[in-house]
Amino acid sequence: MEIFTAPQELRDYLRGRSGIGFVPTMGALHQGHASLIARARSECPMVVVSIFVNPLQFGPGEDLNRYPRSPEMDWQLCRAGGADVLFCPTAETLALSASMTQVVPPLSMTSVLCGRSRPGHFTGVSTIVVKLLEIVHPQRVYLGQKDGQQVAILRRVLADLHLEVDLRVCPTVRLPSGLAMSSRNQYLSAAELAIAPELYKGLQAARVAFDRGTMDPAKLIEAVQLHVAQFPALTVDYVELVDAISLSPLTELSLTTGILAILAIAAKIGSTRLIDNLLLPYASPT
Ligand code: PAF
Repeated sequence: MEIFTAPQELRDYLRGRSGIGFVPTMGALHQGHASLIARARSECPMVVVSIFVNPLQFGPGEDLNRYPRSPEMDWQLCRAGGADVLFCPTAETLALSASMTQVVPPLSMTSVLCGRSRPGHFTGVSTIVVKLLEIVHPQRVYLGQKDGQQVAILRRVLADLHLEVDLRVCPTVRLPSGLAMSSRNQYLSAAELAIAPELYKGLQAARVAFDRGTMDPAKLIEAVQLHVAQFPALTVDYVELVDAISLSPLTELSLTTGILAILAIAAKIGSTRLIDNLLLPYASPT
């Protein structure tokens, strides 16, 4: 596995190569990332993984400084997963600055769900991802469905900017308890780890209601809320049902129109903010 920190050196190395699969990450890699690398490995002749804790996507008072960093373990996971190239740029090599050009996704998509409490977050994500794509020039980029809003926004950014890259979305990887794998799970105490899977169980309560014929978004949202309300350690930020592509709030669900909806939750346990989501009607992300 080759390791690069300088964008120009990576560009020179990749020049003329085709079939690059790209997995952008912020490190603290876990089995969710491993599944993205494995999918890229199975579909692409060359796999590039990037690790960069992107300051642009953290707001004031957020966890940028304490975001988990585990470079040696990350490198091992990438090597074991068969990555060909690891790209570890820095804010300096990426020329980040307060006055740089930024990619601002549509407000309709960034002012809902996590965007409401994290203004600027998705501009930071979109800016860095477009920058990385311009350096790596992959044929395919791999993201996890756990970050459903990020997926929808980046899909839109790629389309709006005519970026020729195929977005592959991989299913959320979960612990046996149901808790979605996340780098931020490392913040949780043992007691918090025991409560955290209740987010997913809340979503599943709505899924059960949906499978029994409940199509009213308000009732599905209520099913999640009723479940999580049993756990005072959880402070819910939102439970929302939105169109999976446009992220517009949905007032009705219809199996016949085939709308794919995201039922999403964000909640805090202690100082840790966790997110999770389900796709309804269920379809495997592609
Ligand atoms: O999902 C992440 O880890 C980050 O948001 C990403 C896509 C690597 C951009 O920094």
